[in-house]
Amino acid sequence: MADRKARVAVLVSGGGTNLQAIIDAEKSGAIHSGHVCLVIANNAGAYAIQRAQAAGIPALVILKKECGSQQAFEEQIARAIEENNIDLIVLAGFMAILSESFTSRFDHRIINVHPSLIPSFCGAGFYGLRVHEAALKKGVKVTGATVHFVNEIPDGGEIIQQKAVRVFPNDTPETLQKRVMRQAEWKILPSAVEMLCANMIDQ
Ligand code: GAR
Repeated sequence: MADRKARVAVLVSGGGTNLQAIIDAEKSGAIHSGHVCLVIANNAGAYAIQRAQAAGIPALVILKKECGSQQAFEEQIARAIEENNIDLIVLAGFMAILSESFTSRFDHRIINVHPSLIPSFCGAGFYGLRVHEAALKKGVKVTGATVHFVNEIPDGGEIIQQKAVRVFPNDTPETLQKRVMRQAEWKILPSAVEMLCANMIDQ
């Protein structure tokens, strides 16, 4: 794969600030071994789609409801990934669980960013603000974010990078979410993307 950039697809469901962090990192050169070629959203209203369009990245909307089944939904995503010769799939706020048949098809080629220090506050039911609500309820003084490979166990794949973030006494789930994004997610996700893409083009 020498002389070329790894081809990256980013899967999104919502605001897309992590997608934006990757786009900005590519623009600044912090990501230079990979190129975001495709964005796939499972929600037609996702603001992330506008971020992709503003950056000139093709964006596809694939709705599970329209596909009819989990299997057909995953098949459509897999087809788009394969047709676009994607090397690395990044789940960036992608709020859908992918089955083993999908994750094993792209073994060690799917990564996810999760807004806690795994193994705390992760697994089924822990996503978005709920993660920060649970962290505050528990009273942890430190939380953070994790980038990990995706396998058949929700948030259970091998950890790639983590970064800790302080919790303050007056935090709300919203203030904590923002700090975790700014201090951890938007840093470790682009960094992990560059590291993995560099490894891929080195092979
Ligand atoms: C991020 O905090 C991400 O870590 C989280 O959803 C948010 C999406 O924000 N993902 C999960 O909870 C997955 N389990 P974004 O759309 O602005 O990137």
